[in-house]
Amino acid sequence: MSSDEVWERACAYAERNQLSLEDQLGFGIHGSVGTVQSHLQNGQAAIKVFYRQATAFEQSPYQRERDVYLWLREQAVRSIRSCQVPKLLHHDDELLVIQMTIVTPPFILDFAAAYLDEPPEFSNEVWSDWQKEKEELFGTRWPEVQDILRELRLLGIHQTDVSMGNIMLSEI
Ligand SMILES: Nc1ncnc2c1ncn2[C@@H]1O[C@H](COP(=O)(O)OP(=O)(O)OP(=O)(O)O)[C@@H](O)[C@H]1O
Ligand SMILES: [Mg+2]
Repeated sequence: MSSDEVWERACAYAERNQLSLEDQLGFGIHGSVGTVQSHLQNGQAAIKVFYRQATAFEQSPYQRERDVYLWLREQAVRSIRSCQVPKLLHHDDELLVIQMTIVTPPFILDFAAAYLDEPPEFSNEVWSDWQKEKEELFGTRWPEVQDILRELRLLGIHQTDVSMGNIMLSEI
């Protein structure tokens, strides 16, 4: 996957939607995220351009994240336990781009590895190793993260990618 190809899709998306590309906000294993300025709405937003990756799963990371954001928008969810959730503004199935609002910490985002409705079928051993690893990662803040994950589950969203970049808590 060349970054040229991602850049080309970002440019195509910007042109289709009358946006100008601004700065890089972040990147990860699924995509590259940047800010855009809308000429029509006169406002700033974020776009996540997904890498075209082969996946062993039925759904691609792009589809997973898109469907979670569509669901969150339908439910008018803007925050979970005081953490902002980006609002889906637009998406493009051809260019694999999700346009959303920009959030600042505390926030929760990145649903590229989230399961909607049905939880993933991991063995008890895998779950308990996962729990231990996350508990170590978040330390004393783990109970707060667990509350967030519980609330997401009540919405039918099973978040498996639980990292400091994806769940940014408030400073104490
Ligand atoms: N809507 C947004 N508002 C503000 N910052 C954002 C937004 N979307 C993404 N970011 C920033 O970009 C980073 C990477 O985005 P994201 O986690 O969605 O990418 P990813 O490729 O799925 O990452 P990962 O490697 O965790 O799977 C985030 O950790 C966050 O810092
Ligand atoms: Mg991430």
